[in-house]
Amino acid sequence: MADLIASEKIDEIRRSVDIVDVVGEYVQLTKKGRNYFGLCPFHGENTPSFSVSTDKQIYNCFGCHAAGDAFSFLMDIEGYSFQEAAVELAEKGNVKLDIEAPAAAAAKSMSPDFQQMVEAHQLLSKFYHHLLVNTKDGQHALEYLLNRGFTRESIDKFQIGYSLNSWDFVYKFLTKRKFPEGLMERAGLIIKREKDGTYFDRFRDRIMFPINDRNGNTIAFSGRALGDDDPKYLNSPETPIFNKSKILYNFQSARAHMKKMQRAVLFEGFADVIAADRAGVENGVATMGTSLTDEHIALLKKQVQSITVCYDSDNAGKEAAFRASTMLSDAGFQIRVAMMPDGLDPDDYIQANGAEKFRNEVIDGSLTLMAFKILYLRRGKRLQDEGDRLLYIEEVLKEIAKLDKAVEKDLYIRQLAEEFSVSLDALKEQLEGMETKHSSSKSQKEHAGRSNSPMMMNPPAASTSKIRPAFHTAERNLISHMMKDADIAYKVQSLLGENTFNIDEHQAIFTYLLGYFESGHPPDTSAFIHFINDDKLRKICAEIALVTINDEVSEQELSDYIKQVLNYQKMLKIKEKKAEAKEAERQKDYVKAALISMEIIQLQKSL
Ligand code: GTP
Ligand code: MN
Repeated sequence: MADLIASEKIDEIRRSVDIVDVVGEYVQLTKKGRNYFGLCPFHGENTPSFSVSTDKQIYNCFGCHAAGDAFSFLMDIEGYSFQEAAVELAEKGNVKLDIEAPAAAAAKSMSPDFQQMVEAHQLLSKFYHHLLVNTKDGQHALEYLLNRGFTRESIDKFQIGYSLNSWDFVYKFLTKRKFPEGLMERAGLIIKREKDGTYFDRFRDRIMFPINDRNGNTIAFSGRALGDDDPKYLNSPETPIFNKSKILYNFQSARAHMKKMQRAVLFEGFADVIAADRAGVENGVATMGTSLTDEHIALLKKQVQSITVCYDSDNAGKEAAFRASTMLSDAGFQIRVAMMPDGLDPDDYIQANGAEKFRNEVIDGSLTLMAFKILYLRRGKRLQDEGDRLLYIEEVLKEIAKLDKAVEKDLYIRQLAEEFSVSLDALKEQLEGMETKHSSSKSQKEHAGRSNSPMMMNPPAASTSKIRPAFHTAERNLISHMMKDADIAYKVQSLLGENTFNIDEHQAIFTYLLGYFESGHPPDTSAFIHFINDDKLRKICAEIALVTINDEVSEQELSDYIKQVLNYQKMLKIKEKKAEAKEAERQKDYVKAALISMEIIQLQKSL
C-alpha cells in the first residue's frame, strides 16, 4: 500500500507539515525550551510526559514509550493506515496527491473484476438503504427495526437497508447497469438456477446489513429475516472479495475509537455492535457468526492490547466467551469479560436497562479473566456435592497456577479457602505441585510469544530501564551521533569491526541506519525513523533522538563509547571463562584451570 505514494511525495508531505500542528489538534501542548510538552494521548496520565520536538519533527512519551513522526502519530491515534495518514497530512500541508480517498485507492489496486464486485455492493447498499428509509415497500422493515430499538441515526450510520420481496429485482437492477451475470453470481448477489440457467436474487425480504472491509468498501451483506424465517441471518457466501475469517464487523469505524481507548470490545453478533454503538460504546466489533480466527486476532493485535469480550450471557455464549478469551489471552491481550444477567445478549440488555447501565455496569464492570473463569468453571456443577466441589477447587487452582503475579495468586487462593472453608496451607501446597508442572510449559509459551521480538539475549531490555549500564548509554549515544552524521556511522562501523552492539535492538537500528545512508539519504531524524520498518525500533530510536547530546563528538569520545561497548562483551567472556575455570577445578583438571585463568588475566588487562 505504501508504494502507491512515491517516496519523494512522502518527503514533500513531511516537509509541508509541522508535527506540532498535527499533534496540537489532539493534545494541548505547552512550549518549554525547544520542545513542547503535554499529556500523552496514548495512555492515561496526570503529569505531562509527552514531548514533541520541532527540530526533529518527532514525538515521544517517556511514560508509555509511544514515539514516532507525524505519520505514525496519525496512524496510532486515528488507527489510520499509512496511506490514510499520508492523505490527511497532504491535505493539511497543501500537497497535491494524485490519489483520492484511501478507499478509492485501495479499490483501484484490485483487479477490474473485484472492483466491479465492490461497486455492485456499494450501489446496492445505497439502494437497499433508500428502500428502507424512504419507500412504502420498506416501511414494515423500518418499523421492525425501530421497534427493536434501532434509531434512525444508527440506521444511517450502519447503512442498514431492506431487500425487496422479489425474485429478480437485484438481478434486473444489476444487469441494467451492465454488471455481468457471472460476476454477480460469483459475488454472491444472485444465484443460478440449475434447471434453466436463469438467475434469482439471493436476498429477498430481509433487513440488509452491509459488511465492509477495513477500507470501508462494502464487500458482502448479511440479511436478517423479519419474522421467524429460517435462516435468521443469511450471509453472503465466501467470495473473492469476502472472507469471513478475516472480516470483523464494524472494524473500520471502530478503529479510531479502539486506538483512543486502547481497547476493543468483541461482540458475538453485529446487532450487538450496533446497539452498543448507540449506547456510546463505539470500539466494538464482531465476527461474522464464525468463531474467532488467528486472522481476526492478528487484525486486532495491530490496534490494541486490551479486549473486553462481551458475548451473550446464555450457556452457549459463556462457552464461546471462554474459548475466545482464552485464545486472546494466549495471544497476549489483556482480557476482561463483560457479563449480563440471565441469558441476555448485549442488545437485549441495552433495550431493557438503557445505555448508561450498559456502559457502567456491563462494560466498566467487566470481570478480570480469572474472575470470569472462577464463575465459568462452576457451570454444570453441584457445589454442595463433595466430588463436584473438589473437582471445582482443582480446576480453579489450575487456573490460579497460570497467573503471573504472586499477589493475584494469593488473592484468589484466599477467596477459595474462604468460600469452601478449606485450609489455606492445603491449597497452597496443592498449588505448588501444579506450578512446577506449569512452569516448564509456561516458559516455552513465553518464548514462543516473544519470538517476533529480536531480543532474547541476556542484556537488559532496551527501553524499559531508566538506570542503564554504561555500555547501554554508550550504545545510545553512538546511535544518536550516527543519526546526525553518516561519516560517524561509517567510522563506528569500522571501529566495531566484527563486533556488534550488545543490545539487539541497537544493532538492528545500526543496520537500518547504514542501509539508510548507503541508499543515499541525508541525515534526517524524522525521515530515518520513518524509514525503519518496525514499531518497536522506531520508538527506541525516537527516544534516543530526543535525548540531547553535544552536537560535536570528538575522536576520543567515540573511541570511549566503543570501548564501553566492547568491554561489556569482554566482561561477559570473562564471566564465562571464570565458570569454565571453576568447572575445571571441580574436575581436578588443574592444568586446564590454570590455562583458563591466564586467559582471564589477558582479558582483564585488555579492558
Ligand atoms: P438478533 O436475533 O437479530 O438480535 O441477532 P443476535 O445478534 O442476537 O443473533 P445471535 O446471537 O443469534 O447470533 C450472533 C451472530 O451469529 C449473528 O450476528 C450472525 O452473524 C450469526 N448468526 C445468527 N444466526 C445465524 C443464521 O441463521 N445464519 C448465519 N449464517 N449466521 C447466523
Ligand atoms: Mn439479539
